[in-house]
Amino acid sequence: MTEKRAQFATRLGVIATTVGSAVGLGNIWRFPYEAGVHGGGAFLLIDLFFIFVIGVPVICAEFIIGRHTGSNVRGAFKILAPGKAWGVMGYIGIAASLLILSFYSVVAGWTLEYIFQSLSGFSGVHTVEGLHNQFDSFAQSDWRPVMWTLLFLMCNYMILARGVRKGIERMSNILMPLLFLILLVFAVNSLRMPEAMRGLEFLFKPDFSKITPEVLLGGMGQAFFSLSLGLGCLITYSSYFKKETPLVKTAFTTAGLDTLVSILAGVIIFPAVFTFGQEPAAGPKLVFEVLPSIFSNLPGGMIWSTFFFILLFLASLTSTISMSEISIAYFVEEFKMSRAKATRLNIVIAMVFGSLCALSFGCMSGIKIFGFTLFNLFDFLSSNVLLPIGGMITSIFVGWVLDRAILREELGISSSRMSRLTMAVIVFCLRFVAPVCIGLVFIFGLNIF
Ligand code: PFF
Repeated sequence: MTEKRAQFATRLGVIATTVGSAVGLGNIWRFPYEAGVHGGGAFLLIDLFFIFVIGVPVICAEFIIGRHTGSNVRGAFKILAPGKAWGVMGYIGIAASLLILSFYSVVAGWTLEYIFQSLSGFSGVHTVEGLHNQFDSFAQSDWRPVMWTLLFLMCNYMILARGVRKGIERMSNILMPLLFLILLVFAVNSLRMPEAMRGLEFLFKPDFSKITPEVLLGGMGQAFFSLSLGLGCLITYSSYFKKETPLVKTAFTTAGLDTLVSILAGVIIFPAVFTFGQEPAAGPKLVFEVLPSIFSNLPGGMIWSTFFFILLFLASLTSTISMSEISIAYFVEEFKMSRAKATRLNIVIAMVFGSLCALSFGCMSGIKIFGFTLFNLFDFLSSNVLLPIGGMITSIFVGWVLDRAILREELGISSSRMSRLTMAVIVFCLRFVAPVCIGLVFIFGLNIF
């Protein structure tokens, strides 16, 4: 490749873009709804285990591969293990990223609808019942969700077409801190609600009897989804890192901030769920029904609500940009396509499948595959199946196959004891803990035998 690859300009840029990829609807929409369905505290516990014991080492593994090869997912495995079956990781990454982009854009489209609903003061509807009906009639409409999905993907396209550094980095630097701030304000507000304690108990007090194979599978999927892990997103992003970027520290910062946002979202949602007598297990619509009830009880609610959905929309954009980048880098580097053409191809595929997913709540709700609507199937297949498989392949590859010298060089391992211990722990997790845990959860969660 003669053209010099783009690089992120600053250390803040690296953190903001990586966290920008991780933080998104996965934390604010998916985490509360999955926790609500899977018993709250028990789910959080599993999620935390997978984030810190398995997620952080696998993030390091993706960073090592990405920065060392400076390539897209498929290209990276081709460089490190030419002609070997590890290259399958490229296909997993591209398939998972397109599946996620499709259903994710639907929910991101909902945030656009809710910006406008907020501006209209939810058409004067304030009751929980009324807000439920409003969401249902919107999601079941045959054209509005499709229209927003397409519009969202157009925004995604416009940013991607401007290239890596300018578009993505500049935007993430400003938006992510702002999102933290507003979440903090909402969390404080929720903590003052009458049933706050019940909400917090639901979220933080694990009921161990609720830990079932399904909860294990769900928690594992959530951890991978939320960290943008197992599909080569972080391989692609770290291929734009500079040599000086400290990988272990960046991995911890990403996982830490990402977890903080999910927990903040839980602290916002569950006190409100109990205070307004809503159902924690409402599924994908949970957040879109609970948040408006919070806002309608807040002074200046309309402004908060508008501002919040704008930020959520932007947080979704920084995530979809990163998942699009996986297949764009692949099309450009492996098929020698122009960046513009690769970006168009990526968006057109997402537009077709995204529209079908958007209709899953309306006229296509009766169409089920393995008992799932298309939207749920895409989510389940990517988060709970493809990403953990991708994570397992990555951890086995880096733990067992990759030359130790590359690990040492990329992780910046010196002769100090601390440094050697870090390396030993990461390698142990990659070799044994991650593959065994992911394998066991698969066997039980998917009922393989
Ligand atoms: N981690 C993102 C979120 O939590 O919203 C979702 C995501 C982004 C998944 C990028 C996968 C990916 F490659």
